[in-house]
Amino acid sequence: MNEQNEVRTMYAETVPYLLHWYEFNRRILPWREDPTPYHVWVSEIMLQQTRVEAVKGYYDRFLTCLPDVRALAEAKEDELLKLWEGLGYYNRVRNMQKAAKVLVEQYGGEMPADYDSIRALPGIGDYTAGAIASIAFGLPYPAVDGNVLRVMSRITGSEEDIAKERTKQTMKQDLTTIMPEQSGDFNQSLMELGATVCLPNGKPLCEQCPVMHLCKAFHTGRETELPVKTGKKERRIEKRIVYLVYCGEKILLHRRPGKGLLAGLWEFPNVLAEEAKDVGLKVKKDKKAKHIFSHVEWHMEGIRIEAEEASDTPEGLTELVRRLTGDTDWVFVTPEELRETYPIPSAFEVYVKEVLHENRNRI
Ligand code: ADE
Repeated sequence: MNEQNEVRTMYAETVPYLLHWYEFNRRILPWREDPTPYHVWVSEIMLQQTRVEAVKGYYDRFLTCLPDVRALAEAKEDELLKLWEGLGYYNRVRNMQKAAKVLVEQYGGEMPADYDSIRALPGIGDYTAGAIASIAFGLPYPAVDGNVLRVMSRITGSEEDIAKERTKQTMKQDLTTIMPEQSGDFNQSLMELGATVCLPNGKPLCEQCPVMHLCKAFHTGRETELPVKTGKKERRIEKRIVYLVYCGEKILLHRRPGKGLLAGLWEFPNVLAEEAKDVGLKVKKDKKAKHIFSHVEWHMEGIRIEAEEASDTPEGLTELVRRLTGDTDWVFVTPEELRETYPIPSAFEVYVKEVLHENRNRI
């Protein structure tokens, strides 16, 4: 038997054990109650960036506000971003809306029951297309995410680098050949095993595993060494000055440009520390905060600017901020508006909390 067939045979042997295990051990999750294509789609996009426990609340709120494809297609951008606030990677929800518009225009507002058509939608890659096709429609496609790569690499004792696209492609092809009829349950059993038993970072719970007896990594004592994954690039560090500009109880927000990191979201005016201008102001230092994105870390230092005299008009303050940051797209908002209406990236959470805390008696 050649190597490829051997791998496929090993995959195939896991199927009945995993399906049985999944039937009795799956977590009860909101999107599993009624796995319509829309529900599966929303949950899978959210789960790509956030843990299951954290997603539940976001998922329920999103579906309450936008219960179907049409509602998503018609949502206002700020409402959409506010529903996503805290999840990060905001282009994902913008792409969802683009895809929803395509579904309304070309498919009567329904997800088509066809892998290639699903895969062609904006923001839907192989993984999400496979998840929707298998979980919502029962079509025989795999859904290979980081969990699945880890589980299957350990089972077969594979030394292939899972950071490589080729490794993923080969696994997808091999899984496609052994997909059982219950493709959605099988895919989810792999994800579920990866999330709850076959844990990363040297902590697998092998004694709880339904396929321990089939697992090469377990038999060779290599479960903590596999899978092989080459390192990620180091993150760049950006020092930023964040300006908290008060005019009475209102605070100044700036709208980020429509392209790039955190596009279109609202923020406290800020600049790279190395580009900060000294405008001879008496300033009060505020909190420091850190936020980690995938490719960059922000190390922030807050500076408070408050209108102290009646002559400090909103116009005077925004002119000052224009000189400090070069920005031009602003609005002064009340604490309540800050909380309810304006989507603010989590990077600024420390400062949002501070503003809301200071004003807690007013709202
Ligand atoms: N992670 C991403 N999608 C998942 C799913 N459908 N079930 C369990 N974990 C997941």
